[in-house]
Amino acid sequence: MDIEKLRQEFQKRLATVHDSRALEELRNDFVGRKRGAITSLLKELPKLLPEDRAAAGKQINELKELVEQQLGAKRAELERPSAVAEIDWTLPGYDHHIGAIHPLTFVRHKIEDIFREMGYAIAEGPEMETDFHNFGALNFPEDHPARDTQDTLFVDRKEEASGKNLLLRTHTSPVQIRTMLQHQPPIRILCPGRVYRKDEIDATHSPVFHQIEGLAVDENITFADLKGTLLHFLRSLFSSDVQVSFRPTFFPFTEPSADVSVSCPFCKTKGCKVCKLSGWIEILGSGMVHPQVLENVGYDSERYTGFAFGLGIERVAIRMFDIPDIRMFHQNDIRFLSQFRVTE
Ligand code: PHE
Repeated sequence: MDIEKLRQEFQKRLATVHDSRALEELRNDFVGRKRGAITSLLKELPKLLPEDRAAAGKQINELKELVEQQLGAKRAELERPSAVAEIDWTLPGYDHHIGAIHPLTFVRHKIEDIFREMGYAIAEGPEMETDFHNFGALNFPEDHPARDTQDTLFVDRKEEASGKNLLLRTHTSPVQIRTMLQHQPPIRILCPGRVYRKDEIDATHSPVFHQIEGLAVDENITFADLKGTLLHFLRSLFSSDVQVSFRPTFFPFTEPSADVSVSCPFCKTKGCKVCKLSGWIEILGSGMVHPQVLENVGYDSERYTGFAFGLGIERVAIRMFDIPDIRMFHQNDIRFLSQFRVTE
C-alpha cells in the first residue's frame, strides 16, 4: 500500500469537510476501528516479513498521527463560533455624538479666513506681557488710566520704574509691537488672542475675553485703505449690504482714531433687540498707527504708515447668535454649546 497516496487522499477529503458529520465519516474511513484504511494497514503488519515490519509500522504510525492531528484541528475549526453568529443584528445602533464648534472659535475662524484671503498672516503673542509691549511702546503715557491697577491685572509690579513689570495683556495690541520689532514692512497681520481686564463679572463683562487685532504697515498706506479693508471685512462677516460708519475717537497708539459701527444686519437699521433699537452696532476700534509707535519699534515714520484695528470676539458672537449673557461662553454647558452645530 502506498502510504503517500493514502496521505494525499486524506488531505483531499479533509478540504471538502464543512460539518461535523462529514468529519466523523472521514475519521471512520481512515482511523475508524472497524473500517479505517490506516487501521486495517496496521492489522496487516504481522503478515509482513519480519525485516520489513519495523519500517512499515513506523510509516503507518506517522501517518496515523498526522491524520489524527489534522482531524482534531478541523474539529476545533468547526466548533469555533463564527463572527457572524456572534452579532446580534436586532440591537439598536450607537448614537455617534457629533461635537459642535464653540461659537468663539467659529467667529475667530470666520474672521481669520476673511483676512487670510486678503494676504494677512496670523500672529500670536504671550498672554503675560511686559509693561513696555502692552503700554509703553503703544504710546500710553505713564499716568494713563488704563495702567491703573483698577483696570490691569499685574503679575509683578516690583520693577515699575524699569518698565519691565509683568501684567496680563489688556489687549492684543502688544502683538503689533512684537511683530514690528521682529520684521520690516510690509506687514499685514491678524492677531487673535485672549486678553484680561480687572472687570466685575456680569452679563456683559468678563475679566477674560478675546480680541482680534489687525495691522498693516507699508509705504503709502492711507485712511482710505483702512476704510476699504474694514468695509470688505464687515460685509463679508455680516452681509454684503451693511453700511459702515466711522466716528472719531481716541487711542494713544493711533492717530486719527475711529470707532466703527455697522448698520444692524438683523433689522436693516429699523431698530431691534440686537442693536438696542439704534439701528447700528459698534463693532471695533481702529486708526492710523501713531508715528511715535512706528518710531518706538525702529521704523522710519516718514517713509512708512499703517493702520490698525481691534475687536472683541465675544461682542461679535453675542450679536451674531443673539447670546444673552457673556458668561455662557465659559460655562461649558453642553445644552448651550450643542446649539452651534454650524458647519464651517
Ligand atoms: N487695543 C484697542 C482696545 O483694546 C483696540 C484697537 C486696536 C484700537 C487697534 C485701535 C487699533 O480697545
